[in-house]
Amino acid sequence: MLGNKTLASTLLVSMLALTGLVSVNVQAADINLVATQDGSPLNIKKELFDTPAAKEFLATGKNPYIGNEDAIKAGKKKFNLYSCNACHGGHGEGAIAPGLTGAIMKYAKNLTNKGMFETIWHGTNGGMGAKGLGLMVPEDPTEGLKPDDLLKVIAWIRSNSKITGNE
Ligand code: HEC
Repeated sequence: MLGNKTLASTLLVSMLALTGLVSVNVQAADINLVATQDGSPLNIKKELFDTPAAKEFLATGKNPYIGNEDAIKAGKKKFNLYSCNACHGGHGEGAIAPGLTGAIMKYAKNLTNKGMFETIWHGTNGGMGAKGLGLMVPEDPTEGLKPDDLLKVIAWIRSNSKITGNE
């Protein structure tokens, strides 16, 4: 005969299992990040998306740092540290490399934050090197921008532009 206690715990276990199942089913799929060069998957390790903003970006493709003053300030620092300013100008207005703030981009996808993330992470075939962690200096996996840093760099670029990239 089943005691009340056994019955209660059986019920609890099945409820937990059900909750587990339900939450797996409703979990949104991550966005599909692809290389600007050829559209192949970037396969960035999920663990690298290690902040609430980076996790939100991976789930939605939106950059939560747009308009966030602290993030923009930090992004500007990285923009200069990684010499983006040397090629693209101090405010991304363009120098020896194209401007990043206009309404027209060489690669139209860069008008979105997902597209710009992909371009900066993995580079282009036309002279823009990959800046993503582990790709920038192939022999040194610790070099390069982490996803969270890259979102801040993008927030800085967009702060000089009329578009947010989250449109
Ligand atoms: C050595 C020079 C150089 C540096 C440093 C550099 N870039 Fe670039 N970047 C380029 C060139 C050249 C292009 C154009 C590439 C092409 O036509 O395929 C480009 C293209 C881009 C584009 C695409 C623009 C468009 O019109 O579609 C973005 C976005 C970008 N760079 C962001 C950055 C960021 C952010 C950094 C710093 C982390 C950076 N770049 C560092 C040279 C550079």
